[in-house]
Amino acid sequence: MLKTIIVYNSIHHKNTEKLLQLACNDLEVDLVDIKFAKDTDLRLYEVIGFASGIYHGNFHRSLFNYLEDCSQLPQKTFLIHTSGTGNAKYNSSFVEAVKTKGIDLIGSFHCKGFDTFGLFKYIGGIAKKHPNEKDVENLKDFLQGIIE
Ligand SMILES: Cc1cc2nc3c(=O)[nH]c(=O)nc-3n(C[C@H](O)[C@H](O)[C@H](O)COP(=O)(O)O)c2cc1C
Repeated sequence: MLKTIIVYNSIHHKNTEKLLQLACNDLEVDLVDIKFAKDTDLRLYEVIGFASGIYHGNFHRSLFNYLEDCSQLPQKTFLIHTSGTGNAKYNSSFVEAVKTKGIDLIGSFHCKGFDTFGLFKYIGGIAKKHPNEKDVENLKDFLQGIIE
């Protein structure tokens, strides 16, 4: 079993955080909010995941900054994102940033997350009830594949 950590940013409705907490409930994966990530010793881990809500088509800036500044990164990584529209490609810029660091991308996961940003709030939001139980199960399966 690979020692795994996920560093995440989740600010809009905590969709990403809720998804991670439910999926990792009975898995040996450490979750760290980006706010506290600088105090974490990454040398303890073999795999690092980055998880984010999508804001204006991208992972949160704080995760890019963290990735750029990190000197002790595990050599394997995976990406997770939630977004209102469920577009898989929202991770493209982060994939490029990972490539620049020269570490192996071993998987990506995404699902929808409740979104009331901008005009969507006037219609009660989109992707209501996401992440849902199926999203959590799908992420659990994905993570099991990563860590085992
Ligand atoms: C400032 C802002 C910008 C957003 N931009 C996008 C976007 O470009 N595409 C999209 O599908 N969803 C967008 N969303 C919706 C979020 O990606 C979605 O609600 C996500 O699940 C939020 O995750 P979080 O609750 O963990 O922060 C945006 C939300 C906010 C607050």
